[in-house]
Amino acid sequence: MTDRYAVIGNPIEQSKSPLIHTAFAQVTGQDLAYTKVLSPLGEFAQTVDAFRAAGGRGMNVTAPFKLDAFAYATDLAPSAQLAGAVNAMKFEGDKIFAENFDGVGLVRDVVHNLGCPLQGRRVLLMGAGGATRGALLPILAQGPAELVIVNRTLSKAQELAAIAQTQNSGGVPVRGVGYGDLQGQAFDVVFNATSASLTAQVPPLSTSAFAPGALAYELAYGKGLTPFLKLAQQAGVTRLADGVGMLAEQAAEAFLWWRGVRPDTRAVIHTLTVPLV
Ligand code: ATR
Repeated sequence: MTDRYAVIGNPIEQSKSPLIHTAFAQVTGQDLAYTKVLSPLGEFAQTVDAFRAAGGRGMNVTAPFKLDAFAYATDLAPSAQLAGAVNAMKFEGDKIFAENFDGVGLVRDVVHNLGCPLQGRRVLLMGAGGATRGALLPILAQGPAELVIVNRTLSKAQELAAIAQTQNSGGVPVRGVGYGDLQGQAFDVVFNATSASLTAQVPPLSTSAFAPGALAYELAYGKGLTPFLKLAQQAGVTRLADGVGMLAEQAAEAFLWWRGVRPDTRAVIHTLTVPLV
């Protein structure tokens, strides 16, 4: 019997998840159907209940329901707990297992696809919202030399740094700072996890924040050369990436979790890549 999965959101038309998971199912020979579910606002639980009652096995969750899914879950993985948000659910009887694969997808893209180890590197994470929360643990697990969280609202960066320190078994130094505190500091990897690119803005980052040979990584995807990536380019950075690989890798993690087989992401990344020009 064909197993049913879906992505739930509002709006949902823009979602690439059906394309990605359908491609994964084809290359791995898995018998599944993956569709889009538009949930009315305020009716997340009822919509998921109906999908489960019809035999649905799992769902990805996109805006604005990642917090609703957090509340709906019966079993939250540590990744979801720290992120405070859920992007994948698995249904087994009355159990709703919940994960957040965004951070692990990001790290896998950087380390595996882009060939940029984070171990021993100085890492700067811009922003202190949900995207940063999701990325914290997987980045720390790589053992960077230091992790600095920089945010427009300093208190939020400090709060996240404090949370990260409690989870940080490897003893990586973690600091939360404002943009003005970065003078004289340079980083090997700079992640833009702010939502600034969605409004074509750029955080007030100095070009001196990029160390020679740095990687500049924009978590948003499909927007070409964003203001952040332009800034990096002006600073002489030649290693530029957007979040297309992160998108594919978080999907691959969910697929592995659901089906027990890890799909190769290269074809999907190739299909979805928008040139950085
Ligand atoms: P997400 O879930 O995508 O991370 P979010 O939780 O709303 O979204 O967080 C957005 C982050 O982007 C915040 O850290 C925000 O900074 P503030 O905490 O000071 O609001 C950051 N951000 C958004 N626009 C920005 C801009 N133009 N410059 C700098 N930071 C920006």
